[in-house]
Amino acid sequence: MPFISLLSLFTTVVLAYAAKVDGSININPDAHPWIAPGPNDLRGPCPGLNTLANHGFIPRDGRGLNVSVILDGGFTLAAKVSLLATNDPLSFTLDDIKLHGNIEHDASLSRVDFALGDNVHFNETIFSTLANSNPEADVYNTTSAGHVQQARLADSEAKNPNLTNTDKEFFIRSAESAFYLSVMGNPLTGVAPKNFVQIFFREERLPIAEGWQRSETPINASTLGPLIGTISRQSNWTAGEGCHWVRLGPNDPIVRF
Ligand code: HEM
Ligand SMILES: *[C@@H]1O[C@H](CO)[C@@H](O)[C@H](O)[C@H]1NC(C)=O
Ligand SMILES: *[C@@H]1O[C@H](CO)[C@@H](O)[C@H](O)[C@H]1NC(C)=O
Ligand SMILES: *[C@@H]1O[C@H](CO)[C@@H](O)[C@H](O)[C@H]1NC(C)=O
Ligand SMILES: *[C@@H]1O[C@H](CO)[C@@H](O)[C@H](O)[C@H]1NC(C)=O
Ligand SMILES: *[C@@H]1O[C@H](CO)[C@@H](O)[C@H](O)[C@H]1NC(C)=O
Ligand SMILES: *[C@@H]1O[C@H](CO)[C@@H](O)[C@H](O)[C@H]1NC(C)=O
Ligand SMILES: [Mg+2]
Repeated sequence: MPFISLLSLFTTVVLAYAAKVDGSININPDAHPWIAPGPNDLRGPCPGLNTLANHGFIPRDGRGLNVSVILDGGFTLAAKVSLLATNDPLSFTLDDIKLHGNIEHDASLSRVDFALGDNVHFNETIFSTLANSNPEADVYNTTSAGHVQQARLADSEAKNPNLTNTDKEFFIRSAESAFYLSVMGNPLTGVAPKNFVQIFFREERLPIAEGWQRSETPINASTLGPLIGTISRQSNWTAGEGCHWVRLGPNDPIVRF
């Protein structure tokens, strides 16, 4: 395993996240109705991809995803990271991306830690920290998002002896917070209506009927960067014990560097 510098790791992740949402998806609700997944449809730990599948922007069965399919949404680099999570070198499913240590991490906003239970499906108890945050307002923002991350991490620190909490996980978590604020709200201010965010997480649905519209401002590294920075500062984060690690495939060991 070659040495991977922090900077290159961060850059890769930043680009992966920017690529995920750069590249626009035109929302035509009639062409893309929300349909709940059936018993044979695969879903995973990411509310964003699950939502895209529920609206048919990516295959509704959650299978046969590959770089080309994700590229249609402009999601190139994150798709390449996901290819590491499957044994099939050309395609992955929404279920494959649950591989712990690839992108999936502890102290998630809406899923239980891997070592403690179900790290894939939405859990209302876990989500209640975010749902009940910023009680004095009807929006979530970068301040509340940072506080939610701090509280979710404290919960994992208290309960999960297997917690992994390095700057890799911290960065991904902060990017995911910037994501829900940007996609459900204003990517420049990081302010998002609470009901939109709650529908996104709980139902994995675009809240079009409630008045949500895709942001006029493209979400890219230029908009995400400042939000990630503010959220990070508000979360009062300190690294846990342990070193950097990554898992390259389901049959591969954890590699530390
Ligand atoms: C529309 C674009 C996307 C949005 C809005 C989005 C949003 C999010 C959010 C908010 C979370 C945090 C969930 C939580 O902490 O409970 C998350 C988790 C995740 N996302 Fe995405 N995402 C998007 C695209 C992608 C892509 C393209 C990939 C990879 C191919 C991906 C892989 C993951 C994984 C593996 C997790 C689980 C991390 C964890 O919480 O442990 N996402 N995503
Ligand atoms: C990706 O999947 C689509 C749909 O199944 C297929 O048409 C395409 O050839 C695949 N691309 C690659 C690179 O495997
Ligand atoms: C938790 O950590 C212990 C001790 O390192 C290890 O034996 C066990 O397999 C881990 N459990 C999970 C679910 O990772
Ligand atoms: C949701 O998470 C809570 C807290 O970890 C746990 O007690 C509960 O069993 C989980 N619910 C499901 C359905 O997994
Ligand atoms: C977020 O909302 C709370 C409650 O209205 C407010 O105190 C805080 O200053 C806001 N944060 C930002 C960055 O606007
Ligand atoms: C992000 O999008 C804005 C508006 O289209 C553009 O001006 C800016 O250069 C983009 N930034 C990156 C890093 O792509
Ligand atoms: C931030 O973290 C430091 C060090 O762990 C702690 O002393 C301080 O009380 C924390 N502040 C808040 C607002 O949680
Ligand atoms: Mg997780």
